[in-house]
Amino acid sequence: MMSEQAMLAQLQASLSPHRLTHSIGVMETAVRLAGVFSADAARCRLAGLLHDCAKGLGREEMLELIARQGIVLFAGEDSYPGLLHAPAGAALAKEKYGVSDAEVLSAIRKHTVGAPEMSLLDDIIFVSDFIEPNREPFEGLEEVRKAAFEDLGKAKALCRAHTARYCKQRGLPVFSF
Ligand SMILES: [Fe+2]
Ligand SMILES: [Fe+2]
Repeated sequence: MMSEQAMLAQLQASLSPHRLTHSIGVMETAVRLAGVFSADAARCRLAGLLHDCAKGLGREEMLELIARQGIVLFAGEDSYPGLLHAPAGAALAKEKYGVSDAEVLSAIRKHTVGAPEMSLLDDIIFVSDFIEPNREPFEGLEEVRKAAFEDLGKAKALCRAHTARYCKQRGLPVFSF
């Protein structure tokens, strides 16, 4: 696996400055949540840092990565361009960054729409993605931030409700696992 320093350099080369700042924010938030909920801080750090690593890729490139790594998409997941970077990110983290830890790859893979089965690590990355300090404010964000450090399940439910509202307003598929 690459060193964290090499990962940062690689992310800097492939993501916008805004996205890199966000990724570092997710990494730091995930580590804080790991402390609160006794999760594996190193895995939270790694998954947080890399969760959006595929964000700069085109659709075809993402689909190739997903196919090459044998990742199965959820029904409807390829209908909206913004969703593919999660499964593609898991594939890229493995291929390019040398991550072999299945739990870390799972958290990256599930960070956008979630999944029927989610671990504590999956939940931490999912919620951290919403509440990291650089996140553009949305209605209810402060409530999610507060909930996250007390009741992760409640925070996740608030995130999912926000996403469902967002998707319904725009006629996008709503994933309700
Ligand atoms: Fe993402
Ligand atoms: Fe993100």
